[in-house]
Amino acid sequence: MTPNAATPAGSDAELQLGEGGNLRHLLTLKGMTRKAMIDLLDAAESFLSPPGDPPQRSNILAGRTVGNLFFEASTRTRASFDLAGRRLGADVLNLDVNTSSRKKGESILDTIYTLEAMAVDFMVVRDAGAGIPAYIARHVKKHVSVLNAGEADVSHPTQGLLDVMTIRHHKPDFANLVVAIVGDIRHSRVARSAAQALRTLEVGELRLVSPPGMAAEDADLEFARRVDKLDDGLRDADVVMALRIQRERIQDIEGIVDIDNYTRDFGVTRERMKLAKPDAIVMHPGPMNRGIEIEGSLADGEQSVITEQVTNGVAIRMAVLAHIARSHGAW
Ligand code: CP
Repeated sequence: MTPNAATPAGSDAELQLGEGGNLRHLLTLKGMTRKAMIDLLDAAESFLSPPGDPPQRSNILAGRTVGNLFFEASTRTRASFDLAGRRLGADVLNLDVNTSSRKKGESILDTIYTLEAMAVDFMVVRDAGAGIPAYIARHVKKHVSVLNAGEADVSHPTQGLLDVMTIRHHKPDFANLVVAIVGDIRHSRVARSAAQALRTLEVGELRLVSPPGMAAEDADLEFARRVDKLDDGLRDADVVMALRIQRERIQDIEGIVDIDNYTRDFGVTRERMKLAKPDAIVMHPGPMNRGIEIEGSLADGEQSVITEQVTNGVAIRMAVLAHIARSHGAW
């Protein structure tokens, strides 16, 4: 992977590259080249098994240790990094944050140095604080790689990759796609990373559909179309991604949205999906609040690719771990 013109000095995009421009950490999808992204997507395909077959395994990470450090709740990301590490032959350490010494006031860096001293090679980090994965990446020893598993409302790069992998399975012609991401865009790291990946793959049109109080004002998202009416967002869309309201990041929900009428105004239902293309797919990163941002029967229906997103998540995390293990020559 080589830095491109969109990789400013000192940025996370620059920091994540090791010697020779190879990926050493995965902190962000910003600045990742189209070729690098497609290489990761192609590699992930090789880690998928035909339905009913046992999962793919290899020993690429034999002798290595993956540490899952989740300082925020997770089911999918944590479980899939755990399985990805094991299926590549690594030892996997899942730090239980509720019983870890951070609860006694230990600093994040002391936690990291402690795990480094136990020869943890990959630190998979989820944290509610913006900038934490990059902060850790600046302090770790040369053999350690940091993988961002969800950073505040900023970034969730492996989620962005698994989302475009899933879209590519059903709709490979990105240039002619209309993708609608619906819901709480402002507080969503999923929306930001999906948007970055879709931009890199030169999606035809990205619509960010939300109430005005949940719209994102990021300069990076200027390329996308902001839509504040669900019907306008869904009309003739090829891909519809519903998002959960990120209540854990919102102080005063009533101050930004009409919560009593949220489902009526922004809930994605089978009826509303009739506005989208007949073969449109429905996505959700999970966890879902059924009956709020998405109708349960739509999530379970023929258009839904939600469980496929989960399956692809393991393959993407295997591809990222394997790629870094091969390209980062510090061991
Ligand atoms: N999509 C996602 O990040 O899910 P989890 O919070 O369960 O990891």
